[in-house]
Amino acid sequence: MLRRLHPEQPAAFAFTPANLAWAQGQITKYPDGRQASAIIPLLWRAQEQEGWLSKPAIEHVADMLGMPYIRALEVATFYFMFQLQPVGSVAHIQICGTTSCMICGAGELIAVCKERIAPEPHVLSADGKFSWEEVECLGACANAPMAQIGKDYYEDLTAARLAEILDGLAAGRVPVPGPQAGRYASEPAAGLTSLKEFESGRTQYNASVQRAADLRDTVRRIDGTEVPLLTPWLGRAAPATPARGRPTEPKPARGLPADETGVTVQEARAVAKGRPAAARPAPADEAPAEVSGRGKKPRALKAPRKGIADDLKLIKGVGPKLEALLHRLGFFHFDQVAGWTEAELAWVDDNLEGFKGRASRERWIEQARLLAAGGETEHSRRVKRGEGPET
Ligand code: FES
Repeated sequence: MLRRLHPEQPAAFAFTPANLAWAQGQITKYPDGRQASAIIPLLWRAQEQEGWLSKPAIEHVADMLGMPYIRALEVATFYFMFQLQPVGSVAHIQICGTTSCMICGAGELIAVCKERIAPEPHVLSADGKFSWEEVECLGACANAPMAQIGKDYYEDLTAARLAEILDGLAAGRVPVPGPQAGRYASEPAAGLTSLKEFESGRTQYNASVQRAADLRDTVRRIDGTEVPLLTPWLGRAAPATPARGRPTEPKPARGLPADETGVTVQEARAVAKGRPAAARPAPADEAPAEVSGRGKKPRALKAPRKGIADDLKLIKGVGPKLEALLHRLGFFHFDQVAGWTEAELAWVDDNLEGFKGRASRERWIEQARLLAAGGETEHSRRVKRGEGPET
């Protein structure tokens, strides 16, 4: 593929102060006369700052490293990870088009991109939010077809699911990455056939997805403030205080579950001190507490109608913990879930505490419509046979 600089270029480029400090620290990693070795990290940081690599940015980096412009241009135009044209302000979608993905439906994913974003790759969508391209194998072939969006992989995709993900991103949400068809990782689609003993005690998502869900930085670009660059070779130790936004120890943010029990650190401390936790949801016979989040809160009930709630665990993705949470939010019946609008689904997704995004990922509305109409799903049949739910 011919990789050319974009015909429209900005007048100038400069690193932000934070990125400049970071870049200068990177350069000190290399011995005298070898500063050009910092070209890749500096170009990458320039791209993270602007979203793409402009000619002024490439030349600015070349100047910093004392390199002829042509050398920096050679690097920038050689590696496909460098975007030489503006990308979507929300996300650049990279669809794997190599063998496994192509035979599993990458063509349909590309068709979605052509229809929803732009007919041609590397072209901005009408609203400027998205761009897309086809890329070579991204190494997740067992979960084909897949796409890289921002820093994370979305796997086991279908055209419909990719369209939902685009909708979610456009609405300001970041759907949980990883397998999108119910698989935990890359085990057989029908479930584990061996190593089953490792199923218990595992985290909600597989390791890389769990990390992505914890960091929530899938489509957020790094800006120089995340992780301080340590330069012990210059006699500078790590700063005493982590920089803003640095990934921290597994200390949950306010209101997030501390562990798989769903209890937050704040709640646990409050209970230990003998006072009720401020954020504890109200019992079912009181008005449920408003929980902040995106979208619109669906109409909730103070208690189940006639005192009898539907078994929400018949919905795939709802286990005892989530059912209890849904009750606390005021949802007791299939028809309530079946009637959620897209904005309401977004609100629910955002308020599922440690399970954010699950309602849309597991298509609760579609399942609830079936169940509310007296129908059954494969999952509901399994639960009724006493084989679930899993969570
Ligand atoms: S072929 Fe798509 S990830 Fe390997």
